[in-house]
Amino acid sequence: MSSTVIHGIGSLVTNDPTLGEGPLGLVPDAALVFEDERVAWAGPAGAAPPADTAWDAGGRAVLPGFVDSHSHLLFAGDRTEEFNARMSGRPYSAGGIRTTVAATRAASDVELRENLRRHLREALRQGSTTMETKSGYGLTTEQESRALRVAAELTEEVTYLGAHVVPAEYAEDPAGYVALVTGPMLDACAPYARWVDAFCERGAFDEDQARAILRAGRERGLTPRIHANQLSYGPGVRLGVELGAASADHCTHLTDADVDALAQGDTVATLLPGCEFSTRAVYPDARRLLDAGVTVALSTDCNPGSSFTSSMPFCVAIAVREMGMTPGEAVWSATAGGARALRRADVGRLSAGAYADLAVLDAPSHVHLAYRPGVPLVREVWRRGSRVD
Ligand code: NIG
Ligand code: FE
Repeated sequence: MSSTVIHGIGSLVTNDPTLGEGPLGLVPDAALVFEDERVAWAGPAGAAPPADTAWDAGGRAVLPGFVDSHSHLLFAGDRTEEFNARMSGRPYSAGGIRTTVAATRAASDVELRENLRRHLREALRQGSTTMETKSGYGLTTEQESRALRVAAELTEEVTYLGAHVVPAEYAEDPAGYVALVTGPMLDACAPYARWVDAFCERGAFDEDQARAILRAGRERGLTPRIHANQLSYGPGVRLGVELGAASADHCTHLTDADVDALAQGDTVATLLPGCEFSTRAVYPDARRLLDAGVTVALSTDCNPGSSFTSSMPFCVAIAVREMGMTPGEAVWSATAGGARALRRADVGRLSAGAYADLAVLDAPSHVHLAYRPGVPLVREVWRRGSRVD
């Protein structure tokens, strides 16, 4: 076993309130020791146990690697023209998904894999050490299962989203498509996935269809998550809570009943501000959710249509400026919150037993992620105890 100490940490976010101040468990003038892939010790620099190798953080801030719990990285092509048209006043519609479906179906396995690899790498360099990603741009049994097979090669959190939209060839037979998604497509996809997801929205899947899809996934051992209340008010959030979904994602248009349901259940509300940024829509109200006691995660939703960013620092900055979060809350949601949304206790914190996944900022404090928006502050990333090149 080899041990490493990082000392000279100006400010350490542990997300372990027993180790430091507040929910972030903030330790000033700190050190962190890891043994192989895992954190062995975190605390004040003066009390650090010895280790085989030492690395000096030079007074910089260190935080857990971001846990990006919602992305769509199995795709080909891009939608620059659609974005450009939107910025000239055209509205966003879920129909754009079909453009990416056509490009993805036409891509080879190699192209799909390389695209995923490139985006995972892009995210990792910006501090995202855990990534969830989903299918949803194939929409046939063969295409969805190959997307998930590729995803499972390169990521640890894989979600089956055969229920993204009804593909054009089933436009006249949506019930037939739901039967496919809950039948043969599920059989082919379940071995590669941990989660099942459905886009519950007008123009995608209604409440009964989404319930049938998520239940079928659950019966096959997949845990539900749901795209809910993104473009309009609707039943998605309450359905997610009813089914014990790990997270309800988007949560942009919420009634008081939706907020109450989230507060009473154990479904995390995952907010995706890159989406409202790129669709010029109203941001979700994180403050309202936090004040009601809801657990909030932040994620990129990285996809070529509604949110083509892999940057968690960008999401943190928007959440602070536009969604009523403090910098500390936003950083917690982007790390520990994402871990809750993925039901993981081994990431999103830097205390004994967790993976040594962390970001070193070119800044004295995590607050700078919001204070200095758009500045590439992530200077170093360590994943599983090794420094990423
Ligand atoms: O999470 N809401 C549905 N799916 C994606 C958008 C995908 C796309 O536009 O290609 C989302 O925003
Ligand atoms: Fe999404």
